[in-house]
Amino acid sequence: MKKWLKEKLSCPECLNNQAPLDLDIKEELSDDVMEGELRCTACGRCYPINKGVAVILPEKSMSLMSDKSGYNSQSMLSSYLWSHFSELFNDPDATDAYKVWSSYFRETDGYALDIGCSVGRLSFELSKTHSHVIGIDSSVSFVTKARELLNQKRLDFDLIIEGFITEKRSCDFDASWNYDRIDFIVADALALPFPKSSFSTVTSINILEKVPSPIRHLADMNRVLNEENSMLVFSDPFSWDETVSASELWLGGTPHGKYKGRGIDNISKIFSGEEGIFDPPLEIADKGNVSWKIRKTENLWEHINSQFIVGTRK
Ligand SMILES: C[S@@+](CC[C@H](N)C(=O)[O-])C[C@H]1O[C@@H](n2cnc3c(N)ncnc32)[C@H](O)[C@@H]1O
Repeated sequence: MKKWLKEKLSCPECLNNQAPLDLDIKEELSDDVMEGELRCTACGRCYPINKGVAVILPEKSMSLMSDKSGYNSQSMLSSYLWSHFSELFNDPDATDAYKVWSSYFRETDGYALDIGCSVGRLSFELSKTHSHVIGIDSSVSFVTKARELLNQKRLDFDLIIEGFITEKRSCDFDASWNYDRIDFIVADALALPFPKSSFSTVTSINILEKVPSPIRHLADMNRVLNEENSMLVFSDPFSWDETVSASELWLGGTPHGKYKGRGIDNISKIFSGEEGIFDPPLEIADKGNVSWKIRKTENLWEHINSQFIVGTRK
């Protein structure tokens, strides 16, 4: 974990009083803490840093580490490395989805937060326009890989062709990414380990439908987003799934109830201040559809329409 990140963190167990964390360094490599511990100055809870990866999860989120969704698997790593970086190794089927989402980022000297960052593509893009970028994800495998990419500034991986048959793919990374400005940690989108009003840009891309309480994810983004001069780039396919969240908690996809109708319409209303979840409300700067792809094997692909909204505060 980069040392600069410490000043930005607060205990996810003590979010109401925004308790800072003390850092105990056992091993460091230049500005990176490789082994150590963060300790809450209020409740005393400790958060480990092992092999450079800080895990800043409250007790109630520790089950995320057991990974029922498969985001720690080797096959998921191959899928997401392909999705995020295939255009850099000139794959003819590459998706330009990440270029579309990142086209909304604006130059600022503020911090950016990429929630559910996976292997980090949007965090790398955010480093072109922001002074610091923090990517968070609940998958240790993704965060470990994202930090490895950050240090190596290039990609080398085994792309799954079929079963255990793989092929090497590699490429150098974009020279315009500012690697010193970026770090990745393991954290929960529903208990973001940062104080109120910490970020000028927050991204939530394809994660809303993956969390057990979508409304809490929105509320926690409101908490950490600056009240002025800020932007939220949101996108989701709204493929609601009862194995992830109870249907009463969905923000769309049902014919009855508070959030009946389409997710994108309900999210637009929530951004605009309905229910007071976003306070101050967000102005809708743009809306649309992004064609996104996940490549599972040579023969198995997911083609996804992710619906995005860009919300801003003046
Ligand atoms: C569908 S993937 C999208 C990844 C990335 N944003 C993208 O669009 O390529 C969902 C991501 O959210 C992460 N995730 C799921 N639940 C999470 C949670 N509660 N907190 C943080 N990350 C979570 C997963 O590990 C995965 O990386």
